[in-house]
Amino acid sequence: MALIELDHIQKTYDLGLSKVPALRDIHFGIERGEFVAIVGQSGSGKSTLMNIIGCLDVPTAGSYRLSGRDVSTLSDDELADVRNLEIGFVFQSFQLLPRASALENVELPLIYRGVSKKERRDRAVSAMRMVGRSSASSTSCTRRATPSCWSRTSPSWRRAARGRCGWWTAW
Ligand SMILES: Nc1ncnc2c1ncn2[C@@H]1O[C@H](COP(=O)(O)OP(=O)(O)OP(=O)(O)O)[C@@H](O)[C@H]1O
Ligand SMILES: [Mg+2]
Repeated sequence: MALIELDHIQKTYDLGLSKVPALRDIHFGIERGEFVAIVGQSGSGKSTLMNIIGCLDVPTAGSYRLSGRDVSTLSDDELADVRNLEIGFVFQSFQLLPRASALENVELPLIYRGVSKKERRDRAVSAMRMVGRSSASSTSCTRRATPSCWSRTSPSWRRAARGRCGWWTAW
């Protein structure tokens, strides 16, 4: 069983007077541990597809199974749980909270996951050490987060911060 299974996915944006068919019959699987890049010309539907794979949106037709579970018909709240528990996101534009420290940014997803304060701090420090931030308790890790201080390692940091999630996706 593939980790990600897209089964004849369609997405049509309904603009009232017109409909935009963004995805037509997308059908493929991604195995655990596989690295995949989605490429295509502007307007070909990459973001639409990524929104569906990342459980930010649902398809108009077809089914999407993530770890064997059909997530194509879940409610917004259920999708939020799947995003929180199973998916790591790496955004090209960082999406960091500028008023939070680097460590706090790493901890943030764990707050929404209901992890206790001590455990999330421990896991965040450990995640930062995994990517070479061994002085996690020093000021270098608690300075305010800016793109310049995150630029080289933010994907790894985010991935590590999510801890234990099944896969991650980059925008
Ligand atoms: N929210 C929306 N409402 C209506 N139409 C949309 C919406 N989002 C995307 N589209 C349309 O769906 C099609 C696919 O768009 P999408 O943004 O997924 O393409 P893309 O491959 O990501 O493009 P780009 O490379 O420019 O980012 C386009 O025709 C676009 O105009
Ligand atoms: Mg796009």
